Amino acid sequence: MLDVRPVAPALGAEVFGVDLSAPLDDAVFAEIRAAFVRYGVLFFREQPRLEPDQQIAFARRFGRLHEHPAAPHLAGHPEIFVIHTHAGSRVANGELWHSDVSCDAEPPAATMLQIHQLPPVGGDTLWTSTAAAYEALSDPVRTMVGSLYAVHASEHIYRGRYADRGVDDAGREYPQARHPVVAVHPETGRPALFVNRSFTTRIEGLSELESRALLGLLFDHIEQPHFGLRFRWRENDVALWDNRQTQHMALWDYYPHERKGHRVTIAGTRPVGLDECTSGRVA
Ligand code: SIN
Repeated sequence: MLDVRPVAPALGAEVFGVDLSAPLDDAVFAEIRAAFVRYGVLFFREQPRLEPDQQIAFARRFGRLHEHPAAPHLAGHPEIFVIHTHAGSRVANGELWHSDVSCDAEPPAATMLQIHQLPPVGGDTLWTSTAAAYEALSDPVRTMVGSLYAVHASEHIYRGRYADRGVDDAGREYPQARHPVVAVHPETGRPALFVNRSFTTRIEGLSELESRALLGLLFDHIEQPHFGLRFRWRENDVALWDNRQTQHMALWDYYPHERKGHRVTIAGTRPVGLDECTSGRVA
């Protein structure tokens, strides 16, 4: 029996009593899946270090895997993005609030990260519930944003980002997509804000000034601590988050120490706006 312990009012739960390196029977997997959709981010404690094939096998239970458009992967395993920050790093992954790869036309539904190596202190990750943030907007602002669309770009983030890790991106084109500012969760029908500080560059149909001001308001609103949580990792913890109802940011507060892990993303579908739905559910 899965032991699921909520960790914050808006989102998040710790999960005990399951070993992710072993094949899971359908009943246990169904419990995990239900908890994942309900809590938005799950933290699997007391895990063994997963072999790449074990992590990939568990992730595939959720659906087709997504390949990152820019990041270096583990040799022989294009599905695994190696998260690695050390004294010589130019950047750390995920330092600004974001949902993963929202610049893709079909952004990943979910991300699974196991951290293998931690600094002596620090290296926490923060999550926020974009669904709770949407629900807390005042009525006039909620009405206004419900019909808007925004551009999510990635050239400004990815170009040259991983050069020090051997990625030559000359001639590569990075994705850009148009998504609703409010997207309806395809499994629950719950609307959530779908703009983030990393990828979202412009709201369509507004002047430059209006777009900047409204995005700033929405980012500040989403990032308020009462919609979120701060997770302190222990070695080999596995986090599994739903990019359709959460955002996250990783703190790089541990220089010159090292932090390392393996990330796998699960493919998603095109975000659907309120205007495409009937009675809150995707038509
Ligand atoms: C990320 O996937 O954005 C990185 C999260 C982390 O390293 O904690």
